[in-house]
Amino acid sequence: MNATDIDLGIGFGHGKVILIGEHSVVYDQPALAAGLRAGIRARATRGDGRLRVPAWGLEAKRGDGSPAGLALDRLLDALDLRDLDFDLQADIPSRCGLGSSAAMAVAVARAAVAATGRNNADVSAAVAQAETVFHKSPSGIDSAAAMHGGLGAFSKQQGWRPIALRQPLKILIGLTGTPHDTGAQVAAVARLCARAPVARRLVETLGEVALAAIDAVGVGDIDSLGRLFDIAHGLLAGLRVSSPALDAMVHGARAAGAIGAKLTGAGGGGAVIALAPSHAADVLARWRADGFDGFETHVGAAQNA
Ligand code: PMV
Repeated sequence: MNATDIDLGIGFGHGKVILIGEHSVVYDQPALAAGLRAGIRARATRGDGRLRVPAWGLEAKRGDGSPAGLALDRLLDALDLRDLDFDLQADIPSRCGLGSSAAMAVAVARAAVAATGRNNADVSAAVAQAETVFHKSPSGIDSAAAMHGGLGAFSKQQGWRPIALRQPLKILIGLTGTPHDTGAQVAAVARLCARAPVARRLVETLGEVALAAIDAVGVGDIDSLGRLFDIAHGLLAGLRVSSPALDAMVHGARAAGAIGAKLTGAGGGGAVIALAPSHAADVLARWRADGFDGFETHVGAAQNA
């Protein structure tokens, strides 16, 4: 490969929210998730394996021993590429339940493929390799949402199945401001299930809640979806993946008029989501008054960038 082979490649990966089914999806249960319009844009240029994300103050290089350096190494190895640098523009915060590592891997892999004209089919395998650094043995839901955008049902067996909505779904995303460690949260649920096998019933029930949510969203029944958010939060709290800040945000949202609220992602910190069709401003104001950031977004419209 010489200098003229690599000109420039651009790639995008969506941030994500899991509407229902975090943790249970690891145990082969179905889940409902969405790729966000916000995400990560990567620009590939000829270089020596550097990765820069100014918004997160992150700089890494292949083989530097950092998690990002290792993820880049695995990703480029899987694509059989080298001699590339990546500059990333991130519109989502890192390690907060919005799928930042998957969005980064998808953006980088797509930029690398665009820069070198490689076949697109390589991207999901390369992203899966990068994700093992942050998530140990990921279910694949983050990568699927980061690649597809829009709303989808996901399971490990069936992958991503897009769900078309007549109208995009408005959701509120609230940020605790505390980063979380997805691998540690997943390991904690596994330990709980080993020590108290009845916890597996909560996991299975979460799968049933996800199926009900897929039905509700398909017919535009937002009230039922809100109830299912509340039930899912209770089950996730039972699995011990909530936190005082997540609980405060969920209860604050409900008190301000949300029809349902829950943690999203691995929990322990990170983010919550709420449905509040008539009280969005009240919920955001309540979170702000309690010291938390939040924003409104739409999911389910055609969003592939
Ligand atoms: O921490 P996040 O936002 O990347 O969410 C991970 C979702 C889990 O179900 C907890 C793990 C997985 O691999 O599906």
